Amino acid sequence: MARTLYQAGNVWPDRPDWLPGARLNFPLARLREIGSVVESSRYLARQMAQEVDFKQPGLIVELGPGQGAITHELFKQVSNRKQLLLIEVGGELIAELKRQFRGVSVVHDSAEWLVKHIRGRRVAAVVSSLPLRSLPDKVVHRIGVALRQVMDPQTQYIQFTYDLRPAKTAYFSGVSMEKQHSKIVWRNIPPARVDTFRLAEE
Ligand SMILES: C[S@@+](CC[C@H](N)C(=O)[O-])C[C@H]1O[C@@H](n2cnc3c(N)ncnc32)[C@H](O)[C@@H]1O
Repeated sequence: MARTLYQAGNVWPDRPDWLPGARLNFPLARLREIGSVVESSRYLARQMAQEVDFKQPGLIVELGPGQGAITHELFKQVSNRKQLLLIEVGGELIAELKRQFRGVSVVHDSAEWLVKHIRGRRVAAVVSSLPLRSLPDKVVHRIGVALRQVMDPQTQYIQFTYDLRPAKTAYFSGVSMEKQHSKIVWRNIPPARVDTFRLAEE
């Protein structure tokens, strides 16, 4: 059974009892940031993790871990927990992420400011479930600029989207990426497409 986002907090306590459907325990003001009311299925999480080349040296950075559906798969496969860095803007999720994933760095911040958390280390892969289509353009632009600063030609950028049509353009204006691989995961609500990119040669 898929969990609704987010059962961690109780920030919509005034929901009337007669209202049908799942209880949505997240601040409605964050709806654009969350982009979904159901967390990723284990099939989608596994596909995201399967794209990661764990043999590459460097950090594996997860943007928007939420309740940790994808983190769970990364955590199982990473050889050293210190290699994982989670960046999540939702303050209500941080304590639970830290509790679930001991030894992993959990940062409460926006992915726009990821450069300062990388602190010059190499990044092997960025695994993102950021809702890039619903975030404000200026936020997406800043995330692209930050990615450009931390990625090298071997760094993987792995993103899922609910738009199943093959992407004609890259997600970011500030960085040019080439798609390496794409796969649709049907066993998710809704079905999603996982895309893997690397920096385009300039
Ligand atoms: C669609 S949910 C995905 C949650 C989880 N990874 C999953 O797949 O079930 C998107 C997550 O991205 C987070 N998020 C949105 N904007 C962000 C930003 N600028 N920086 C970091 N996290 C962000 C949201 O708080 C939310 O947890």
